[in-house]
Amino acid sequence: MISSCLLTPEVLEQAYGQGARECLFANEQINLVISQYRQFDLLELERLLTAVGWSRRPMRRVHRALEHTLLNVGLWRHDSQFPRLVGFARCTGDGVLEATVWDVAIHPLYQGGGLGKQLMDYILESLKEMGIERVTLFADPGVVSFYKRQGWTLEPQGHRCAFWYAS
Ligand SMILES: CC(C)(COP(=O)(O)OP(=O)(O)OC[C@H]1O[C@@H](n2cnc3c(N)ncnc32)[C@H](O)[C@@H]1OP(=O)(O)O)[C@@H](O)C(=O)NCCC(=O)NCCS
Repeated sequence: MISSCLLTPEVLEQAYGQGARECLFANEQINLVISQYRQFDLLELERLLTAVGWSRRPMRRVHRALEHTLLNVGLWRHDSQFPRLVGFARCTGDGVLEATVWDVAIHPLYQGGGLGKQLMDYILESLKEMGIERVTLFADPGVVSFYKRQGWTLEPQGHRCAFWYAS
């Protein structure tokens, strides 16, 4: 995999907010940025989640859910005028002890390039900075090993739950 860290820290912070991080991606022509502070266009988010095959949810409820979410993280394909949302994940929780990860999605055109893993790394680092040491998620059956490869512990029967403990 090739690093393409071409954006200056100033551009990153101005367009995507504090702590934004450029991703590693094989296509050097494409700059991808993970950020938890750039605002979401709900229609664009819906398009992304539909693209990965999930059914639509009422937009007003999604809006409220995002407002009540501990951590909303977007993965953006950089463009100086119109960055495009190509990945997303969010975490609910108390912000102190526990968190749960939801809605992890990478647009099909960008899957298989290490972005899902980088998104999860970013989330776990952000939660760790809050002092959170126990993180849970409910994986779709076909995706369990995506999390297992990253060090998540499966619930005993290994069907749908995974737990991650900060070391
Ligand atoms: C699951 C998803 C987020 C993975 O994102 P991605 O960018 O394609 O994943 P990465 O390229 O970072 O993959 C990291 C590793 O996990 C593996 N992996 C990716 N998707 C996998 C899957 N569905 N099952 C098992 N392993 C998977 C990759 O082969 C790679 O392995 P490696 O480190 O040995 O090379 C993405 O495929 C997606 O959005 N899927 C549709 C929505 C979904 O199912 N979300 C999860 C809900 S629980």
